[in-house]
Amino acid sequence: MQNINKILNIGSKHLKKSSVKSPKLDSEILLSHVLNKNLKEMILDCDFKPKNNDVKKFRSLIKRRISREPIAYILGNKEFWKYNFYVNQNVLIPRPDTEIIIEEILKIFKKDQKISVLDIGTGSGCIIISLAKELPKIYGTAIDISKNAINVAKFNAKMHQLKNRIKFYNSSVDNFFKGKYDLIVSNPPYIDNLKIKYLERDIVGFEPLVSLKGGQDGASVLNKVIKKSSSLIKIGGKLVLEIGYNQKYKVMNLLMKKKFHINKIIKDYSNNDRCIIATKL
Ligand SMILES: C[S@@+](CC[C@H](N)C(=O)[O-])C[C@H]1O[C@@H](n2cnc3c(N)ncnc32)[C@H](O)[C@@H]1O
Repeated sequence: MQNINKILNIGSKHLKKSSVKSPKLDSEILLSHVLNKNLKEMILDCDFKPKNNDVKKFRSLIKRRISREPIAYILGNKEFWKYNFYVNQNVLIPRPDTEIIIEEILKIFKKDQKISVLDIGTGSGCIIISLAKELPKIYGTAIDISKNAINVAKFNAKMHQLKNRIKFYNSSVDNFFKGKYDLIVSNPPYIDNLKIKYLERDIVGFEPLVSLKGGQDGASVLNKVIKKSSSLIKIGGKLVLEIGYNQKYKVMNLLMKKKFHINKIIKDYSNNDRCIIATKL
């Protein structure tokens, strides 16, 4: 029987050989998941010898990671903002850069404001659910073109006791006509279809293409979101969009054509333009 230290080393060696980016950390996360211990407990207890069955389970998870399945899908969850979300291959894995959207919205609206919020392309529901948690008086509506994504988002809303405050619709943005909103938020697919094939295997091989493909220039869904938002938003309402690193001017133009005033463009942690905030005039 081998101890934790030895098992971790073997796992990380296999991952390294297959050029997985963070072999040591991934090996630790997967073993801690199998043993149901947090990372700290596991490292402190590194002489412990896990049962054969657990070692077998660990090996099968390492194999999945070698095939480049992302850790979040293997574990079935991902932290976003302050919360944990169930994820599977029907939804994009929530990204830390998207937390910028939450951070900026919390600078605009106060905790006791009663506002109606629409999330377009909700995926796992991470944006609307985090907002509803932080702003307890908002009413949320969330739409997604993918029925399977809506099911995941509903599950997450239930897990976070928000079933009664967020309505979910399986709808494309083009076909959605319900309500008038104080705030519309969207992280739409914005990658140029021709560039999808250059993404890492972890992404392109596992995450849903409908959450990545933004059309010929990457801005076709963004364009639809802006057009539709222009009629669904109240005068003076805010539109907050996540955008691709090279889409600032294109999106600014689209917004100005639809009579939005650009308030702010925020950079992500890698210093790329990532989020744009506009007000409907
Ligand atoms: C980049 S993912 C964002 C998911 C989630 N909001 C997040 O930030 O992690 C984009 C989402 O938009 C959805 N989507 C793509 N095209 C759409 C459309 N035309 N109308 C509505 N939703 C769409 C996809 O199914 C996907 O869930």
